[in-house]
Amino acid sequence: MKNDFILKGNICYSETMDRLWVAEQQYVICVDGKSAGVFSEIPEKYQGLPVKDCGDALIVPGMVDLHAHAPQYAFRGLGMDLELLEWLNTHTFPEEAKYASEVYAKRAYTMYVEELKKSDVTRAVIFATMHVEGTKILMELLEDSGLSAYVGKVNMDRNGGKDLEEKSAEKSLEETKRWLAETDGRFQHVRPILTPRFIPSCTDELMRGLAELQKEKKLPVQSHLSENPGEIAWVKELCPNVSNYSEAYEQFGLFGGDCPTIMAHCIWMEEDEIEKMKNNQVYVAHCPQSNMNLSSGIAPVRRFLSEGIPTGLGSDMAAGYSTSIFRAMADAIQCSKMRWRLVDDTQKPLTVEEAFYLGTKGGGAFFGKVGSFEEGYEFDALILDDSNIAHPQKLTVRDRLERMIYLSDDRHITEKYVSGRKVK
Ligand code: GUN
Ligand code: FE
Repeated sequence: MKNDFILKGNICYSETMDRLWVAEQQYVICVDGKSAGVFSEIPEKYQGLPVKDCGDALIVPGMVDLHAHAPQYAFRGLGMDLELLEWLNTHTFPEEAKYASEVYAKRAYTMYVEELKKSDVTRAVIFATMHVEGTKILMELLEDSGLSAYVGKVNMDRNGGKDLEEKSAEKSLEETKRWLAETDGRFQHVRPILTPRFIPSCTDELMRGLAELQKEKKLPVQSHLSENPGEIAWVKELCPNVSNYSEAYEQFGLFGGDCPTIMAHCIWMEEDEIEKMKNNQVYVAHCPQSNMNLSSGIAPVRRFLSEGIPTGLGSDMAAGYSTSIFRAMADAIQCSKMRWRLVDDTQKPLTVEEAFYLGTKGGGAFFGKVGSFEEGYEFDALILDDSNIAHPQKLTVRDRLERMIYLSDDRHITEKYVSGRKVK
């Protein structure tokens, strides 16, 4: 019973996607890094544990960023007037090429991880770059931060230009194996994830090799899917043998099923693809701020939820400029309203409850039992002091949570825990 404790305060978590549980002035108990549940009175067997009284603060599960690019943090807020392919070539690839330098990687990744520590994020699934040494530096920084993360060394053996392209599929696979071997067993809270950047960046030979590696090592996979109409047309040209973008991954066995997979964006999905994502339980990382910035489109998130496709939220740093998942919740709600009004009035906008679910339990499921305070869930928590957001009347806890979604920043987060470890 080393680090077991109790927090008292106004506790909120998602039970289901449309049901928010609110426990006013109750106790949430952390035992061995996991939640032992929420109680109105402290059960007898936990009565010896230290109790931290958080006063009138809100206590919520930590947030999950299902999709971010750590090397893009440094240029966030720049170059937002372009669409995806032009943005990649003009801003992103030249910036990522700089991560060949370990000195640069250390400097820039330190800034990102410091920001992440202060943010509402407790867990993240992150792209590094194609460079092994830089990726290792990022993993070390994240491990030291106390946050929990999946990190991917990016694979890209075509269309990256001379400074951001691995010389061959063979070389890319060799480097990936070296990265896995050199990081194996070194970290407690940071795990590797295979990361073919997207179909235009990866030859068939590389994809076949990654699929073999996935099967051998049982690694999860992350990539991008159906983000931009120009990108989708390009994938059709590159893969004339398949009938849609999803199949371009599926033909190699890199699309869910036995291969745990996150696909970012999933905006322009055909019916067959939605069916396939559901059957294969492919995770969607919905990145609304990125989708607005790069004029990509509005993803059919209501459809994903009603089909039972596992879905969470992503910052997509730096096509999204904010690390905050509270902000992503607000963006997701706002985007869904535009989709309902302008695209499809049969698909109702997301509610506050649903957006909160997506940013906690929805994305958290990729990590296991994460994103709730139900018994057995990892004890990831934020303590939120909203006392500086004035209102002349006393608000309900649920309404205060809604205001955190729209109005909070890192100054409202007074403490942060990941599996019971204090991070902030
Ligand atoms: N598709 C391929 N690479 C990227 C990237 O870095 N960001 C986004 N938003 N989409 C991509
Ligand atoms: Fe992305």
